[in-house]
Amino acid sequence: MIDFDNVGLRYGMGPEVLRDLTFEVPRRSFQFLTGPSGAGKTTLLRLMFMSLQPTRGFVRVFGQDITTIPQQELPKLRRRIGIVFQDFRLLDHLTTYENVALPLRVRGKEETSYRTDVMELLKWVGLGDRMNVLPPILSGGEKQRAAIARALIDQPEILLADEPTGNVDAPLARRLLRLFLELNKLGTAVIIATHDLSLMDQIDARRMILSGGRLEIYE
Ligand SMILES: Nc1ncnc2c1ncn2[C@@H]1O[C@H](COP(=O)(O)OP(=O)(O)OP(=O)(O)O)[C@@H](O)[C@H]1O
Ligand SMILES: [Mg+2]
Repeated sequence: MIDFDNVGLRYGMGPEVLRDLTFEVPRRSFQFLTGPSGAGKTTLLRLMFMSLQPTRGFVRVFGQDITTIPQQELPKLRRRIGIVFQDFRLLDHLTTYENVALPLRVRGKEETSYRTDVMELLKWVGLGDRMNVLPPILSGGEKQRAAIARALIDQPEILLADEPTGNVDAPLARRLLRLFLELNKLGTAVIIATHDLSLMDQIDARRMILSGGRLEIYE
């Protein structure tokens, strides 16, 4: 699904933020990505989302070397990936419902075919009564849940989630984790970046730990 081969990454002339990363994200796998603030978790997710190129080594996503993918093919590949950004990136001029439905709309689906699914998922993440409001008036935790719903709605092949429970309380975090597990059971490879030890302790999943630019994996 995702394959890193001796990858290094530096921003501009700065030091290497990631060093000698060699690993695979298997199809249908579930893993946490952890490490201290500034360790490079977001950077690693950006490489996986093909929004950053490695400064050395190779990154392959869906079997394709990301440095050689033509620019015009990137949107199509990215549509196979659900992503929850650390800063949410909801579109402020669309309602919560419209934000979540966007991936389906972009794919050309008819609203009648997905309306109930979108509403059900919004209810599941506790936003049933926030569907018709614009993101600027949502709380941090509500925005986060809307961003999660948008990433999940189209059942992506890969889910990348950057601190997806950073703004919600513990019971809600557990509920969201259940949702990620359900998605994984349906076949999605899930990568969750988190500092939250109590979240990681809830399930026996692979742990990818970044420290000093290097990655260690515990199965
Ligand atoms: N656009 C950028 N330009 C220069 N340096 C950057 C840029 N983005 C990140 N960095 C640096 O790269 C390192 C890794 O940052 P990154 O955001 O990937 O860490 P993180 O593990 O996601 O941290 P956090 O847990 O705080 O979200 C940090 O030292 C950061 O300052
Ligand atoms: Mg980060």
